[in-house]
Amino acid sequence: MPKVIAMAGKGGVGKTTISALILKYLTEKNMTPVLAVDADSNANLNELLALDVNLTIGQIRKELKGDMPPNMTRDQYMEMKVHQSLVEAKGFDLMAMGQPDGPGCYCAANQHLAMTMDHLADNYKYILVDNEAGMEHLSRMNLRQIDYLIVVSDPSARGILTAKRIAELTGPLAIEVKKKCLIVNRVPEPTGKELMAKINEAVESTGMPLGGLLPASTELVEQEIIGGSYLLLDNQVEMVKKAFAIFDEFFAD
Ligand SMILES: Nc1ncnc2c1ncn2[C@@H]1O[C@H](COP(=O)(O)OP(=O)(O)O)[C@@H](O)[C@H]1O
Ligand SMILES: [Mg+2]
Repeated sequence: MPKVIAMAGKGGVGKTTISALILKYLTEKNMTPVLAVDADSNANLNELLALDVNLTIGQIRKELKGDMPPNMTRDQYMEMKVHQSLVEAKGFDLMAMGQPDGPGCYCAANQHLAMTMDHLADNYKYILVDNEAGMEHLSRMNLRQIDYLIVVSDPSARGILTAKRIAELTGPLAIEVKKKCLIVNRVPEPTGKELMAKINEAVESTGMPLGGLLPASTELVEQEIIGGSYLLLDNQVEMVKKAFAIFDEFFAD
């Protein structure tokens, strides 16, 4: 059974950025193979990895409503197409969920998808899901358990409380969360005493364990602008070092 790592947090806080760094971490530590799932309808994890996505799960679900090639069941077709949609890279495959369901009933298509996901999951040691703010895709992918939930927040007290509320969205989805931590991202450095006290106070009020703080990083912004893969970021970059230290502790068991 693969371990599931999932991201939570409101838009723009750094979920995709941190997902790319987790992927860098897992592949460099040989914690592979990994299935990286871009579950944001505005797929952009692939951009941080400098990879092209040609076919999304959303597109496959739509096709499944039409005619099947002769001699193929819908399950077989789904399985074939999902395999085609995977972008293969060193140590990991990338899957993009694409646009959400349009009008009409997708129950059947989603059932086929759930079955395919069950088979596919067995091939991986880790499944990393970069969610958008909601986490509906997790149940669509038939994932019943999150081994590691990473909740990302901006460095404001309000942001940290919002992060807690979003993390609690896993409750109604009936997904069991084994371990979670909060990462406060884009903390200005040097961090003033007052800001630090405010952050600590807010974190404490959430009851979530603090994974750590990540700085605002110009290296990351530059890498994004030139379209370079985050996997190739220098390991001496402060943001990478700090992120890896958080992951060392969080993924230790
Ligand atoms: N620590 C950071 N330092 C500098 N820029 C960052 C940092 N974290 C995120 N960003 C930038 O903020 C924007 C939003 O980040 P992103 O990871 O896409 O957020 P989310 O996936 O939560 O919507 C991106 O342009 C990203 O490069
Ligand atoms: Mg994102």
